[in-house]
This record gives sequence, structure tokens and C-alpha cells, in this order.
Amino acid sequence: MSESATLQVGFLGSGRMATALAKGWLRSGLVRTGGCQASDPLASARQTFTAETGCPAVADNCQVAAASNLLVLAVKPQSMPALLEEICPHVTGRLVVSIAAGITLRQLSAALGSDCRLIRVMPNTPCLVGASASGYSPGANATAEDIALVDRLLNAVGVAFRLPEHLLDAVTGLSGSGPAFVYLMIEALSDGGVRMGLPRDVATVLAAQTVLGAAKMVLETRTHPGVLKDMVASPGGTTIAGLHALERGGVRGALMDAVEAATRRAVELGES
Ligand SMILES: NC(=O)c1ccc[n+]([C@@H]2O[C@H](COP(=O)([O-])OP(=O)(O)OC[C@H]3O[C@@H](n4cnc5c(N)ncnc54)[C@H](OP(=O)(O)O)[C@@H]3O)[C@@H](O)[C@H]2O)c1
Repeated sequence: MSESATLQVGFLGSGRMATALAKGWLRSGLVRTGGCQASDPLASARQTFTAETGCPAVADNCQVAAASNLLVLAVKPQSMPALLEEICPHVTGRLVVSIAAGITLRQLSAALGSDCRLIRVMPNTPCLVGASASGYSPGANATAEDIALVDRLLNAVGVAFRLPEHLLDAVTGLSGSGPAFVYLMIEALSDGGVRMGLPRDVATVLAAQTVLGAAKMVLETRTHPGVLKDMVASPGGTTIAGLHALERGGVRGALMDAVEAATRRAVELGES
């Protein structure tokens, strides 16, 4: 029997990230509609999950935990202690994946039992469109099959790196929170276009496509971004004039500060 025929994924918490992952995995074909369900105390979250994925969502976490062989803990870090206490009796024999920012494997294992098979993952929402960037770190009891399964699921919706756990907060700060940083940049570039006379709809597509194209150039040519930047900045030209304005505005420092601030916040969330 194929892996996807036996895989029963249960999302505990059916909010934005659970919905995005479920949609991405269903679209990839690795998870079947009949092999996915969710639980959430919030009726509106359950309704959205079902409307977006076609999969059932119920209020009872234990019902979903009992019926699944892969549990995805997809609640906010602040809600995690209560969830762990509730599902603890139901995790035996199941692979448990946590996507919560800041919550460590040690905290998960202390709450669920030291023999629990755990993998900590930090995905991002572009998994909805097959373009996520994730990092993951397996716990001591995760088997080679568990790790291969999670690696396949994450790579089916983007790219994923296996990393030492201490780096997952930095992944949270860079790629977990990063889409919001880039949305802000796209919005600002579009504002610049509108200020210079472009219609808003044209400006936003030009800005987003420019970010997409530049990202593809970095990923597909494997050329250092600084080299690619130099290649488009001719002496005395338009691009170097724009780059000078960006440097005067401290954009590099601001982006580095953003990743640092988000990383520090992830660490704080794990400590609270
Ligand atoms: N959004 C992202 O881009 C992103 C990226 C990477 C990782 N993450 C991680 O993913 C996790 C979920 O984030 P999100 O943005 O999807 O949050 P979200 O939209 O708020 O979804 C979380 C859902 O879980 C529910 N919930 C709370 N306590 C629960 C419990 N005990 N049992 C079952 N469900 C419960 C919440 O209901 P209430 O509202 O009633 O509490 C809410 O509907 C977070 O830990 C975050 O760090 C998010």
C-alpha cells in the first residue's frame, strides 16, 4: 500500500498555518482528502479549514489525535502547554510534528514523554503556492522513516533544510516571518511606482514580479546576490542612483534588524 494511502494527518489547531500546510500537502498528492482532519476550539477556524481544504474539522483534539498517525501541533506557542497536557495520553505510536515558534524539543518531550517521536518544524505560509522555505530538526526518537516523511512533505511544498535545533529560532526570524517583510517591501515598491505615476494595479504586479524574478535569479543561477546587483548597476546609471537612496535609508541594517528582532521574539515565546 502506498504511503499516502496509510498516512492520516491530524492538525491540532486549524488556523492559518494548518490550513496552508494542509492545502499544500493535498495539492502535492502526498496527503489524500480522506487522510487529513483538524481540531480547533474556534468554530470559525474549523469552518475556514473545511471550506479551504475539503477536510473535516472538529472541536475535540483527542478525537483527531486518536485517528491520526501524524500529528501536527499548529497552535500559537502560548496555547501549547494546555494542548500538550490534553493530548499526552493519545500520542503513543504517533509521529508528532510541532510548528510552533520557539517551543523546543526538550519542552515537547517533557510534556509528552521522553519516548515520543518528535520533529520540530518551522515552515512558512508560501507552502500554499508550493514555494515555502522551511527548517526542521528531529528529536532523538524520530526514526529515519519519520525524518524522510517530514522531509518529503516539506519539500513537496517548497524547500526544506534539516538543521541543528538551536538554529530554528533564526529560521523563524528569517523565513517564518520573512514573507511579511517581503510583502511590506512589495507594497513600498508599488507605492514608489504610484508616486511616479503608475496605476496601482500595474505597480503592484510589477513590484511582485520583480521580487519573484530577482529571487529566481539568485536560486537558479546560484550567483551571489551582490554580483547580480553589480551586473545591473551601470556606472552613472539609474540603478546605482536608486541603490544609493536605499543605502542612505539604511535598508540593509533595517532588514538585518528585522530578522534579529523576530528571532529574539521566537526565543522569548519559547521561554514564556
Ligand atoms: N502564520 C505563519 O506564518 C507561521 C509560520 C510558521 C510557523 N507558524 C506557527 O504556527 C502556529 C500556528 O500559527 P497560525 O498563524 O496558524 O495561528 P492561528 O491562525 O491563530 O491558528 C491557531 C489556531 O489554534 C487554535 N487553538 C488554540 N488553542 C488550541 C487547543 N488547545 N487545541 C486546538 N486548537 C487550539 C486557535 O484558536 P484560538 O484563536 O481560539 O486560540 C487558532 O484557531 C504558531 O505556533 C506559529 O508560531 C506560523
